[in-house]
Amino acid sequence: MANTTKNSGAPWVTVGVSGGVAAYKAAELVRALQQLGADVHVVMTRAAQEFVQPLTFSSLTGHRTITSMWGGWGEESSSPTGLDESGMIEHISEAGGADALVIAPATAHVIAKIAHGLADDFLSTMVLATTAPLIVAPAMNVNMWNNPATQANIALLRKRGVTIVEPGSGYLACGMTGAGRLASIDAIAQTVMRVLSPAAHAEKKDLAGETVLITAGGTREAIDPVRYIGNRSSGKMGYALAEAARQRGAEVILVSAATALDPPAGCTFFSVTSAEQMRRAVMAHLPQATVVIGAAAVADFRLATVGTEKLRRNGALHLELEPTEDIVRGVVEARGAGTLVVAFAAEMDDDIEHARKKMQAKGADAIVLNDVSRAGIGFDSERNAASFITAEQAIEIPEMTKREMAEKILDEVLALRAASIESAS
Ligand code: PMT
Repeated sequence: MANTTKNSGAPWVTVGVSGGVAAYKAAELVRALQQLGADVHVVMTRAAQEFVQPLTFSSLTGHRTITSMWGGWGEESSSPTGLDESGMIEHISEAGGADALVIAPATAHVIAKIAHGLADDFLSTMVLATTAPLIVAPAMNVNMWNNPATQANIALLRKRGVTIVEPGSGYLACGMTGAGRLASIDAIAQTVMRVLSPAAHAEKKDLAGETVLITAGGTREAIDPVRYIGNRSSGKMGYALAEAARQRGAEVILVSAATALDPPAGCTFFSVTSAEQMRRAVMAHLPQATVVIGAAAVADFRLATVGTEKLRRNGALHLELEPTEDIVRGVVEARGAGTLVVAFAAEMDDDIEHARKKMQAKGADAIVLNDVSRAGIGFDSERNAASFITAEQAIEIPEMTKREMAEKILDEVLALRAASIESAS
């Protein structure tokens, strides 16, 4: 498994993994980059190998994972001579072959080293030796991230043209809360692909001037203090929309029910639990919104009376449910002139006419129909397939990643915007 062989046509992306808890997420990044067509190589720092085995990456990539300048330790040591299998100096051949180098996660230490040109291991040496674009995705404790030394190093790297994928905020492995979480794998992978082919992934700022209010995730309706009625929504579709809209220049307000995802960088984020909390958060921010997208799976029913104590198991239990308010319908009734409203429909079939009736009942401008009975798409999947339905047409969006679908949906939102401007003039 030589490292210098270039697979036909596929861009060669080297992923540098440094030693933080988020090192395990680099395996997902490798997969995401491969799905986007890249031939991925991996270089690990010594500390990274304390968190993840090099074999994990070798198995995923089909290339030997580079673990050292000199070899001699790790389960599959690098060349003890420092030469690769074709006799070239390995860090030079890796540096020369790569079309892009992405360091994810990048620790404060690695960021400091590369900012100051130190080269004491394979990864930092490769950074100096390569002319390929460098992408850095930091992950660390919030105080380390906010430390003036780290911020100065980041500013230095930015000044030199390094692309920084901003960390998100949230609960950190160290137990603290704040900025420092590795950005989403999707955001890192998309950034790499954009850097690789700027023409194909040109920074479209076509949503500049729009404020997109997005709901995401599955709401939870309490039964008692410890139980709830929920659903299988992971929030991935809504978060993909938020990230894509933000990248295309929109202001984004994300109202999210509980998910396992990190809030996307650059969005105004509100965390809610129940359908009623989501409704209130949406209505409170509706006056700013020019586009509303309801990607959340909102409970249609809640308990008429929530137990104040944990219910005991004493035979059969009958719960009385009452309908929740329809958030999308409320939005349509209260929206300002020109605010576009896009709903989603999670159905067990692809009946376009049924979905269109749902859209009309809510008064939305469009509805995205996804058939959640299909394996591999819909709830909690990385992928989705849908139809973007308006009064006049139904545009099929074939199966793709949710991030790719987010771009397609936003393209259609822009087409709606163009049509609404034209009909108003
Ligand atoms: O989150 P993921 O795991 O990525 O999965 C994505 C998804 C399948 C959840 C998403 O693509 C999707 O289909 N979301 C809508 C799910 C849903 O609740 O569908 P619905 O047909 O029950 O509702 C129709 C629309 O009305 C939706 O826009 C919904 O947000 C909205 N609604 C529903 C009930 C309610 N009380 N208020 C609402 O606004």
